[in-house]
Amino acid sequence: MDVLLIGGGGREHALAWAIAKSPMLGKLFCAPGNAGIAAVAECVTVDVSDHASVENFCKMMSIGLVVVGPEAPLVAGLADDLRAAGIPVFGPSREAAQLEGSKAFTKSLCDRHNIPTARYRHFNDISDARAWVEQEGAPIVIKADGLAAGKGVTVATTVGEALTALDDCMAGGGEVVIEECLVGEEASFFVLSDGTSILPLATAQDHKRAFDGDEGPNTGGMGAYSPAPVMTPDLVNKAIQRIVEPTVKGMAAEGMPFAGVLYAGLILSDEGPKLIEYNIRFGDPECQVLMARLDSDLLEILLAVAKGELDGVTANWRDDTALTVVMAANGYPGSYEKGSKIEGVEAIDEDEAIVFHAGTARNGEDLVATGGRVLCVTGLGKDVTEAAAKAYAGVGKIHWPGGFNRTDIGWREIEREKSKR
Ligand code: AMP
Ligand code: GLY
Repeated sequence: MDVLLIGGGGREHALAWAIAKSPMLGKLFCAPGNAGIAAVAECVTVDVSDHASVENFCKMMSIGLVVVGPEAPLVAGLADDLRAAGIPVFGPSREAAQLEGSKAFTKSLCDRHNIPTARYRHFNDISDARAWVEQEGAPIVIKADGLAAGKGVTVATTVGEALTALDDCMAGGGEVVIEECLVGEEASFFVLSDGTSILPLATAQDHKRAFDGDEGPNTGGMGAYSPAPVMTPDLVNKAIQRIVEPTVKGMAAEGMPFAGVLYAGLILSDEGPKLIEYNIRFGDPECQVLMARLDSDLLEILLAVAKGELDGVTANWRDDTALTVVMAANGYPGSYEKGSKIEGVEAIDEDEAIVFHAGTARNGEDLVATGGRVLCVTGLGKDVTEAAAKAYAGVGKIHWPGGFNRTDIGWREIEREKSKR
Protein backbone atom coordinates (compact mmCIF):
# COMPACT_ATOMS: atom_id res chain seq x y z
CA MET A 1 0.00 0.00 0.00
CA ASP A 2 1.17 3.52 -0.84
CA VAL A 3 0.87 6.13 1.89
CA LEU A 4 0.87 9.94 1.98
CA LEU A 5 2.11 11.49 5.21
CA ILE A 6 1.37 15.15 5.79
CA GLY A 7 3.80 17.34 7.70
CA GLY A 8 7.50 18.04 7.89
CA GLY A 9 8.58 18.13 11.52
CA GLY A 10 10.30 15.77 13.95
CA ARG A 11 6.96 14.13 14.66
CA GLU A 12 6.51 13.32 11.00
CA HIS A 13 10.06 11.98 10.66
CA ALA A 14 9.32 9.61 13.54
CA LEU A 15 6.04 8.54 11.93
CA ALA A 16 7.73 8.09 8.54
CA TRP A 17 10.55 6.07 10.13
CA ALA A 18 8.03 3.74 11.81
CA ILE A 19 5.74 3.44 8.77
CA ALA A 20 8.75 2.66 6.57
CA LYS A 21 9.40 -0.48 8.63
CA SER A 22 5.98 -1.92 7.77
CA PRO A 23 5.93 -4.94 5.47
CA MET A 24 2.59 -3.60 4.19
CA LEU A 25 4.17 -0.43 2.79
CA GLY A 26 4.67 0.05 -0.92
CA LYS A 27 5.78 3.64 -1.39
CA LEU A 28 5.75 6.42 1.19
CA PHE A 29 5.21 10.03 0.12
CA CYS A 30 5.52 12.98 2.46
CA ALA A 31 4.30 16.56 1.95
CA PRO A 32 6.41 18.55 2.49
CA GLY A 33 8.84 16.37 4.51
CA ASN A 34 12.40 17.38 5.39
CA ALA A 35 15.98 16.20 4.82
CA GLY A 36 15.63 13.31 7.28
CA ILE A 37 12.27 12.16 5.96
CA ALA A 38 13.78 12.14 2.46
CA ALA A 39 15.79 9.07 3.50
CA VAL A 40 12.62 6.99 3.95
CA ALA A 41 10.01 8.75 1.80
CA GLU A 42 9.65 10.71 -1.41
CA CYS A 43 9.10 14.31 -0.38
CA VAL A 44 6.51 16.01 -2.56
CA THR A 45 5.15 19.52 -2.93
CA VAL A 46 1.39 19.45 -2.48
CA ASP A 47 -0.46 22.47 -1.13
CA VAL A 48 -2.06 20.95 1.95
CA SER A 49 -4.41 23.89 2.42
CA ASP A 50 -5.88 23.14 -1.03
CA HIS A 51 -7.88 20.00 -0.27
CA ALA A 52 -8.72 19.37 -3.91
CA SER A 53 -5.05 19.19 -4.85
CA VAL A 54 -4.36 16.72 -2.01
CA GLU A 55 -7.28 14.64 -3.29
CA ASN A 56 -5.94 14.78 -6.85
CA PHE A 57 -2.51 13.68 -5.72
CA CYS A 58 -4.01 10.74 -3.80
CA LYS A 59 -6.09 9.63 -6.77
CA MET A 60 -3.18 9.98 -9.18
CA MET A 61 -0.87 7.94 -6.95
CA SER A 62 -3.55 5.48 -5.73
CA ILE A 63 -2.79 6.37 -2.11
CA GLY A 64 -4.24 3.78 0.29
CA LEU A 65 -3.90 5.85 3.45
CA VAL A 66 -3.28 9.50 4.29
CA VAL A 67 -1.69 10.13 7.68
CA VAL A 68 -2.06 13.71 8.91
CA GLY A 69 0.65 14.79 11.37
CA PRO A 70 -0.21 18.36 12.45
CA GLU A 71 -3.49 19.74 13.78
CA ALA A 72 -4.08 22.68 11.43
CA PRO A 73 -5.15 20.63 8.37
CA LEU A 74 -7.49 18.57 10.57
CA VAL A 75 -9.12 21.61 12.11
CA ALA A 76 -9.51 22.88 8.52
CA GLY A 77 -11.42 19.70 7.59
CA LEU A 78 -8.86 17.94 5.38
CA ALA A 79 -9.82 14.51 6.76
CA ASP A 80 -13.52 15.13 6.01
CA ASP A 81 -12.84 16.15 2.42
CA LEU A 82 -10.54 13.20 1.72
CA ARG A 83 -12.95 10.72 3.31
CA ALA A 84 -15.79 12.17 1.26
CA ALA A 85 -13.66 11.38 -1.80
CA GLY A 86 -13.28 7.77 -0.63
CA ILE A 87 -9.67 8.09 0.56
CA PRO A 88 -8.87 6.46 3.94
CA VAL A 89 -7.40 8.97 6.39
CA PHE A 90 -5.78 8.73 9.80
CA GLY A 91 -6.98 11.87 11.55
CA PRO A 92 -10.22 13.18 13.03
CA SER A 93 -13.00 15.13 11.35
CA ARG A 94 -13.24 18.91 11.61
CA GLU A 95 -15.99 18.57 14.22
CA ALA A 96 -13.99 16.14 16.36
CA ALA A 97 -10.87 18.28 15.93
CA GLN A 98 -12.59 20.93 18.05
CA LEU A 99 -11.22 18.97 21.01
CA GLU A 100 -7.98 20.78 20.24
CA GLY A 101 -9.27 23.67 18.15
CA SER A 102 -11.58 25.11 20.80
CA LYS A 103 -10.89 25.15 24.51
CA ALA A 104 -14.49 26.22 25.16
CA PHE A 105 -15.75 23.15 23.25
CA THR A 106 -13.62 20.79 25.33
CA LYS A 107 -14.53 22.44 28.61
CA SER A 108 -18.24 22.14 27.93
CA LEU A 109 -17.81 18.51 26.82
CA CYS A 110 -16.09 17.89 30.17
CA ASP A 111 -19.08 19.47 31.94
CA ARG A 112 -21.60 17.35 30.06
CA HIS A 113 -19.74 14.08 30.71
CA ASN A 114 -18.30 14.71 34.17
CA ILE A 115 -14.70 14.63 33.02
CA PRO A 116 -12.32 15.92 35.72
CA THR A 117 -10.74 19.21 34.67
CA ALA A 118 -10.05 22.66 36.13
CA ARG A 119 -13.13 24.76 37.06
CA TYR A 120 -13.61 27.42 34.42
CA ARG A 121 -15.65 30.23 32.95
CA HIS A 122 -15.85 31.25 29.29
CA PHE A 123 -16.00 34.96 28.42
CA ASN A 124 -16.42 37.03 25.28
CA ASP A 125 -16.81 40.33 27.12
CA ILE A 126 -13.62 41.82 28.51
CA SER A 127 -15.24 43.68 31.41
CA ASP A 128 -17.02 40.51 32.59
CA ALA A 129 -13.71 38.66 32.30
CA ARG A 130 -11.86 41.34 34.30
CA ALA A 131 -14.52 41.29 37.00
CA TRP A 132 -14.22 37.50 37.29
CA VAL A 133 -10.42 37.65 37.62
CA GLU A 134 -10.70 40.33 40.32
CA GLN A 135 -13.23 38.23 42.22
CA GLU A 136 -11.27 34.93 41.98
CA GLY A 137 -7.78 36.36 42.59
CA ALA A 138 -4.48 34.69 41.67
CA PRO A 139 -3.04 32.24 40.78
CA ILE A 140 -5.38 31.91 37.83
CA VAL A 141 -5.04 30.66 34.25
CA ILE A 142 -6.04 32.70 31.17
CA LYS A 143 -6.43 30.90 27.85
CA ALA A 144 -7.19 32.45 24.48
CA ASP A 145 -9.79 30.36 22.66
CA GLY A 146 -8.82 28.82 19.30
CA LEU A 147 -5.59 27.30 18.00
CA ALA A 148 -2.60 29.11 19.46
CA ALA A 149 0.27 26.69 18.71
CA GLY A 150 1.11 26.14 22.35
CA LYS A 151 1.02 29.86 23.07
CA GLY A 152 -2.03 31.75 24.29
CA VAL A 153 -1.96 30.34 27.83
CA THR A 154 -0.91 32.46 30.81
CA VAL A 155 -0.55 30.92 34.25
CA ALA A 156 -0.82 34.22 36.11
CA THR A 157 0.60 34.45 39.62
CA THR A 158 -0.83 37.92 40.22
CA VAL A 159 -4.13 39.62 39.34
CA GLY A 160 -2.16 42.27 37.42
CA GLU A 161 -0.53 39.64 35.22
CA ALA A 162 -3.94 38.04 34.61
CA LEU A 163 -5.48 41.37 33.58
CA THR A 164 -2.61 42.05 31.15
CA ALA A 165 -3.13 38.61 29.63
CA LEU A 166 -6.84 39.37 29.23
CA ASP A 167 -6.00 42.60 27.40
CA ASP A 168 -3.65 40.68 25.08
CA CYS A 169 -6.22 37.97 24.30
CA MET A 170 -9.34 40.09 24.06
CA ALA A 171 -8.17 43.39 22.62
CA GLY A 172 -9.29 42.40 19.12
CA GLY A 173 -12.59 40.94 20.34
CA GLY A 174 -11.26 37.44 21.15
CA GLU A 175 -12.75 34.95 23.60
CA VAL A 176 -11.10 33.49 26.67
CA VAL A 177 -11.43 30.59 29.04
CA ILE A 178 -10.41 31.46 32.62
CA GLU A 179 -9.49 28.49 34.76
CA GLU A 180 -8.68 27.55 38.30
CA CYS A 181 -4.92 26.89 38.65
CA LEU A 182 -4.29 23.18 39.22
CA VAL A 183 -1.30 21.94 41.20
CA GLY A 184 0.60 18.74 40.36
CA GLU A 185 3.09 17.18 37.97
CA GLU A 186 2.15 17.15 34.30
CA ALA A 187 2.15 14.06 32.10
CA SER A 188 0.84 13.19 28.66
CA PHE A 189 -1.17 10.14 27.75
CA PHE A 190 -1.76 9.00 24.17
CA VAL A 191 -4.58 6.78 22.97
CA LEU A 192 -5.94 5.84 19.58
CA SER A 193 -9.63 5.59 18.83
CA ASP A 194 -11.57 4.68 15.72
CA GLY A 195 -14.64 6.37 17.14
CA THR A 196 -15.75 3.48 19.33
CA SER A 197 -12.79 1.31 20.37
CA ILE A 198 -9.84 2.66 22.33
CA LEU A 199 -6.23 1.50 22.11
CA PRO A 200 -4.11 3.05 24.88
CA LEU A 201 -0.61 3.78 23.56
CA ALA A 202 1.85 5.13 26.10
CA THR A 203 2.69 7.89 28.55
CA ALA A 204 5.31 10.61 28.14
CA GLN A 205 6.57 13.81 29.70
CA ASP A 206 8.00 16.75 27.84
CA HIS A 207 9.93 19.89 28.73
CA LYS A 208 8.19 22.97 27.37
CA ARG A 209 10.56 25.70 28.56
CA ALA A 210 13.50 26.73 26.39
CA PHE A 211 16.30 26.55 28.96
CA ASP A 212 17.75 24.26 31.63
CA GLY A 213 15.93 24.13 34.94
CA ASP A 214 12.62 24.62 33.09
CA GLU A 215 13.43 28.32 32.74
CA GLY A 216 12.81 30.72 29.87
CA PRO A 217 9.98 31.04 27.39
CA ASN A 218 7.56 28.29 26.46
CA THR A 219 8.34 26.32 23.30
CA GLY A 220 6.72 23.49 21.39
CA GLY A 221 8.89 21.14 23.50
CA MET A 222 12.65 20.86 24.03
CA GLY A 223 12.78 17.17 24.89
CA ALA A 224 10.65 14.27 26.09
CA TYR A 225 10.77 10.75 27.43
CA SER A 226 8.50 7.74 27.49
CA PRO A 227 7.24 6.01 29.50
CA ALA A 228 6.65 8.53 32.28
CA PRO A 229 7.03 6.46 35.49
CA VAL A 230 5.03 9.11 37.38
CA MET A 231 2.01 7.80 35.45
CA THR A 232 1.62 4.59 37.44
CA PRO A 233 -0.65 1.81 36.12
CA ASP A 234 -3.27 3.01 38.63
CA LEU A 235 -3.14 6.57 37.26
CA VAL A 236 -3.29 5.23 33.69
CA ASN A 237 -6.45 3.28 34.57
CA LYS A 238 -7.99 6.34 36.16
CA ALA A 239 -7.13 8.45 33.12
CA ILE A 240 -8.78 5.89 30.84
CA GLN A 241 -11.90 5.42 32.95
CA ARG A 242 -12.50 9.00 34.04
CA ILE A 243 -11.17 10.99 31.10
CA VAL A 244 -10.57 9.10 27.84
CA GLU A 245 -13.56 6.72 27.82
CA PRO A 246 -16.16 9.36 28.68
CA THR A 247 -14.65 11.60 25.98
CA VAL A 248 -14.76 8.97 23.24
CA LYS A 249 -18.24 7.80 24.27
CA GLY A 250 -19.49 11.37 24.65
CA MET A 251 -18.19 12.43 21.24
CA ALA A 252 -19.82 9.39 19.60
CA ALA A 253 -23.11 9.91 21.45
CA GLU A 254 -23.16 13.53 20.33
CA GLY A 255 -22.72 12.55 16.69
CA MET A 256 -19.06 13.54 16.21
CA PRO A 257 -17.07 10.33 16.77
CA PHE A 258 -13.36 10.91 17.34
CA ALA A 259 -11.07 8.80 15.14
CA GLY A 260 -7.36 9.42 15.36
CA VAL A 261 -4.85 9.95 18.14
CA LEU A 262 -6.04 11.65 21.27
CA TYR A 263 -3.30 13.29 23.30
CA ALA A 264 -4.46 14.07 26.81
CA GLY A 265 -2.41 16.66 28.69
CA LEU A 266 -2.92 15.81 32.36
CA ILE A 267 -2.11 17.28 35.74
CA LEU A 268 -1.66 14.61 38.39
CA SER A 269 -3.50 16.32 41.25
CA ASP A 270 -4.14 14.96 44.74
CA GLU A 271 -7.56 13.91 43.52
CA GLY A 272 -6.15 11.95 40.57
CA PRO A 273 -5.51 12.92 36.95
CA LYS A 274 -7.27 16.01 35.65
CA LEU A 275 -7.44 17.06 32.01
CA ILE A 276 -5.60 20.27 31.12
CA GLU A 277 -6.12 20.01 27.40
CA TYR A 278 -6.61 17.69 24.49
CA ASN A 279 -4.60 17.63 21.32
CA ILE A 280 -5.84 15.63 18.36
CA ARG A 281 -2.40 14.72 17.00
CA PHE A 282 0.77 13.15 18.28
CA GLY A 283 2.88 15.41 20.47
CA ASP A 284 6.11 16.76 19.07
CA PRO A 285 8.65 15.65 20.42
CA GLU A 286 6.59 13.02 22.32
CA CYS A 287 5.90 11.14 19.08
CA GLN A 288 9.63 10.62 18.59
CA VAL A 289 9.96 8.74 21.89
CA LEU A 290 6.76 6.78 21.32
CA MET A 291 7.89 5.62 17.88
CA ALA A 292 11.36 4.72 19.16
CA ARG A 293 9.66 2.31 21.60
CA LEU A 294 6.89 0.94 19.39
CA ASP A 295 7.39 -2.73 18.59
CA SER A 296 4.33 -3.24 16.36
CA ASP A 297 3.46 -2.41 12.76
CA LEU A 298 2.45 1.27 12.91
CA LEU A 299 0.93 1.26 9.42
CA GLU A 300 -1.33 -1.67 10.30
CA ILE A 301 -2.50 0.15 13.44
CA LEU A 302 -3.12 3.50 11.72
CA LEU A 303 -5.04 1.74 8.96
CA ALA A 304 -7.23 -0.04 11.55
CA VAL A 305 -8.06 3.37 13.04
CA ALA A 306 -8.90 4.83 9.61
CA LYS A 307 -11.12 1.86 8.74
CA GLY A 308 -12.95 1.72 12.07
CA GLU A 309 -11.45 -1.70 12.79
CA LEU A 310 -9.43 -0.99 15.91
CA ASP A 311 -11.30 -3.48 18.10
CA GLY A 312 -8.88 -6.26 19.12
CA VAL A 313 -5.77 -4.48 17.77
CA THR A 314 -2.86 -4.31 20.21
CA ALA A 315 0.36 -2.32 20.34
CA ASN A 316 3.57 -3.75 21.75
CA TRP A 317 6.29 -1.63 23.27
CA ARG A 318 9.95 -2.21 23.98
CA ASP A 319 10.68 -2.35 27.70
CA ASP A 320 13.25 0.39 27.16
CA THR A 321 12.79 4.02 28.02
CA ALA A 322 13.25 6.44 25.14
CA LEU A 323 14.44 10.01 25.62
CA THR A 324 14.82 12.69 22.99
CA VAL A 325 16.79 15.93 23.11
CA VAL A 326 15.67 18.70 20.78
CA MET A 327 18.41 20.76 19.12
CA ALA A 328 17.02 24.17 18.19
CA ALA A 329 18.33 27.16 16.26
CA ASN A 330 19.94 29.88 18.40
CA GLY A 331 17.20 32.38 19.23
CA TYR A 332 14.31 29.88 19.19
CA PRO A 333 11.48 30.30 20.22
CA GLY A 334 12.10 33.92 19.22
CA SER A 335 13.54 34.87 15.84
CA TYR A 336 16.40 32.74 14.56
CA GLU A 337 18.58 32.45 11.49
CA LYS A 338 18.04 29.87 8.81
CA GLY A 339 20.62 28.14 6.66
CA SER A 340 23.33 27.32 9.20
CA LYS A 341 25.31 24.18 8.44
CA ILE A 342 25.03 21.04 10.60
CA GLU A 343 27.75 18.38 10.65
CA GLY A 344 28.12 14.95 12.20
CA VAL A 345 24.57 13.62 11.91
CA GLU A 346 25.50 10.93 9.38
CA ALA A 347 28.22 9.60 11.70
CA ILE A 348 25.64 8.53 14.30
CA ASP A 349 24.62 4.91 14.05
CA GLU A 350 20.97 4.13 14.82
CA ASP A 351 22.11 1.69 17.55
CA GLU A 352 23.69 4.64 19.35
CA ALA A 353 20.93 7.21 18.87
CA ILE A 354 18.14 7.84 16.39
CA VAL A 355 18.29 11.34 14.92
CA PHE A 356 14.86 12.55 13.86
CA HIS A 357 14.99 15.65 11.70
CA ALA A 358 12.60 18.56 12.22
CA GLY A 359 13.57 21.78 10.41
CA THR A 360 16.27 20.56 8.03
CA ALA A 361 16.96 20.71 4.31
CA ARG A 362 19.83 19.99 1.93
CA ASN A 363 21.87 22.76 0.41
CA GLY A 364 23.78 20.71 -2.13
CA GLU A 365 25.43 18.02 0.00
CA ASP A 366 25.24 20.09 3.18
CA LEU A 367 22.62 19.57 5.86
CA VAL A 368 21.24 22.97 6.89
CA ALA A 369 18.78 24.23 9.50
CA THR A 370 15.53 25.63 8.18
CA GLY A 371 13.36 25.81 11.29
CA GLY A 372 13.29 26.61 14.99
CA ARG A 373 13.39 23.05 16.23
CA VAL A 374 15.86 21.27 13.99
CA LEU A 375 16.94 17.83 15.26
CA CYS A 376 15.62 15.39 17.87
CA VAL A 377 18.36 13.09 19.11
CA THR A 378 16.78 10.02 20.67
CA GLY A 379 18.35 7.43 22.96
CA LEU A 380 17.00 4.14 24.32
CA GLY A 381 18.04 2.69 27.66
CA LYS A 382 16.86 0.65 30.63
CA ASP A 383 15.77 3.83 32.44
CA VAL A 384 15.64 7.59 31.89
CA THR A 385 19.22 8.02 33.13
CA GLU A 386 20.59 5.55 30.58
CA ALA A 387 18.39 6.80 27.74
CA ALA A 388 19.53 10.38 28.46
CA ALA A 389 23.18 9.30 28.41
CA LYS A 390 22.67 7.71 24.97
CA ALA A 391 20.81 10.73 23.60
CA TYR A 392 23.42 13.21 24.89
CA ALA A 393 26.26 11.06 23.51
CA GLY A 394 24.54 11.48 20.14
CA VAL A 395 24.16 15.23 20.64
CA GLY A 396 27.89 15.37 21.40
CA LYS A 397 28.70 14.03 17.94
CA ILE A 398 26.80 16.81 16.19
CA HIS A 399 28.67 19.96 15.29
CA TRP A 400 26.25 22.85 14.86
CA PRO A 401 27.40 26.26 16.12
CA GLY A 402 24.04 27.73 14.98
CA GLY A 403 22.07 25.67 17.50
CA PHE A 404 21.54 24.92 21.19
CA ASN A 405 19.89 22.28 23.34
CA ARG A 406 18.87 21.80 26.94
CA THR A 407 21.33 19.69 28.92
CA ASP A 408 18.86 18.45 31.54
CA ILE A 409 16.10 16.61 29.68
CA GLY A 410 14.57 14.04 32.03
CA TRP A 411 15.96 15.74 35.16
CA ARG A 412 12.97 15.06 37.40
CA GLU A 413 13.00 11.36 36.68
CA ILE A 414 16.81 11.16 36.77
CA GLU A 415 16.74 12.62 40.29
CA ARG A 416 14.12 10.08 41.33
CA GLU A 417 16.17 7.26 39.82
CA LYS A 418 19.27 8.49 41.67
CA SER A 419 17.45 8.52 45.00
CA LYS A 420 16.29 4.92 44.46
CA ARG A 421 19.82 3.60 43.90
P1 AMP B 1 -2.21 24.26 27.40
O1 AMP B 1 -1.86 25.01 26.15
O2 AMP B 1 -3.67 24.26 27.73
O3 AMP B 1 -1.54 22.92 27.46
O4 AMP B 1 -1.48 25.03 28.58
C1 AMP B 1 -0.09 25.23 28.54
C2 AMP B 1 0.47 24.98 29.91
O5 AMP B 1 -0.13 25.83 30.86
C3 AMP B 1 0.22 23.58 30.42
O6 AMP B 1 1.14 22.68 29.96
C4 AMP B 1 0.31 23.80 31.92
O7 AMP B 1 1.67 23.85 32.31
C5 AMP B 1 -0.27 25.16 32.10
N1 AMP B 1 -1.69 25.09 32.48
C6 AMP B 1 -2.75 25.06 31.64
N2 AMP B 1 -3.91 25.01 32.33
C7 AMP B 1 -3.59 25.00 33.65
C8 AMP B 1 -4.34 24.95 34.86
N3 AMP B 1 -5.67 24.95 34.87
N4 AMP B 1 -3.66 24.94 36.02
C9 AMP B 1 -2.30 24.99 36.03
N5 AMP B 1 -1.54 25.04 34.94
C10 AMP B 1 -2.15 25.04 33.74
N1 GLY C 1 5.12 18.87 22.91
C1 GLY C 1 3.86 19.47 23.07
C2 GLY C 1 2.96 19.38 21.92
O1 GLY C 1 3.20 18.70 20.95
O2 GLY C 1 1.92 20.04 21.96
